[in-house]
Amino acid sequence: RPLVVALDGPSGSGKSSVSRQVASRLGLAYLDTGAMYRAATWWCVHQGVDLTDQPAVAALVASMPLEIGVDPSDPTVHVDGTDIAEAIRDSSISTAVSAVATNLEVRAELRRRQRELIDVERTAGFSGGVGVVAEGRDITTVVAPDADVRVLLTASEEARLARRAKDVHGDADASSVEATRDQVVRRDRDDSTVSQFLVAADGVVTVDSSDLDFEQTVQAVLEVVER
Ligand code: CDP
Repeated sequence: RPLVVALDGPSGSGKSSVSRQVASRLGLAYLDTGAMYRAATWWCVHQGVDLTDQPAVAALVASMPLEIGVDPSDPTVHVDGTDIAEAIRDSSISTAVSAVATNLEVRAELRRRQRELIDVERTAGFSGGVGVVAEGRDITTVVAPDADVRVLLTASEEARLARRAKDVHGDADASSVEATRDQVVRRDRDDSTVSQFLVAADGVVTVDSSDLDFEQTVQAVLEVVER
């Protein structure tokens, strides 16, 4: 029987690295839905569209030739044949992504593609029908509320900023944390219509990673899966 694991969490909760590791240990595919919003943003910027022009952005995303790889050891992102896995992590994309992610037509389109990718893994795909770990902001609530396992990964603001600073600046000293704070606080605010999904819905298990290291967080999620 295929296994679908849905995992949501805010920036710096560790959801991407934890989801990848869980997928890898269980032989599941790994779907990074944040990468899809980032790819959509990259595509719009690349095509030179004004991100506040909602109909134009929606039209562009509807025809975006996105290919997302779901191998947890190599999660690739291509648009129109161009490898954009690194480009979508650029701070210019992190700053612009909320404008695209709060576009309702964009969300409808990307959610449709996400459900399609999850459905493929239920029967075939990279996992050969074993299943998928899908992570993001609205997976447990909107994209796959029928998932077998649903987890909300949380962490204190302090822990989230320290992790994010390490991701972006390579360290978590005071100046890196402050530089990160501005960006994270602004994105949380710009994402607020997206972040409404970041509360544990009925049946969603909360895992607080504030005081857990990476391996302990992976174990905590695996325990929820085994329940
Ligand atoms: O960098 P971080 O881990 O915080 O975020 P991400 O998972 O790469 O997602 C980037 C952005 O995509 C978020 O800030 C949201 O605006 C958007 N997003 C979303 O709206 N819904 C999702 N399911 C996943 C991401």
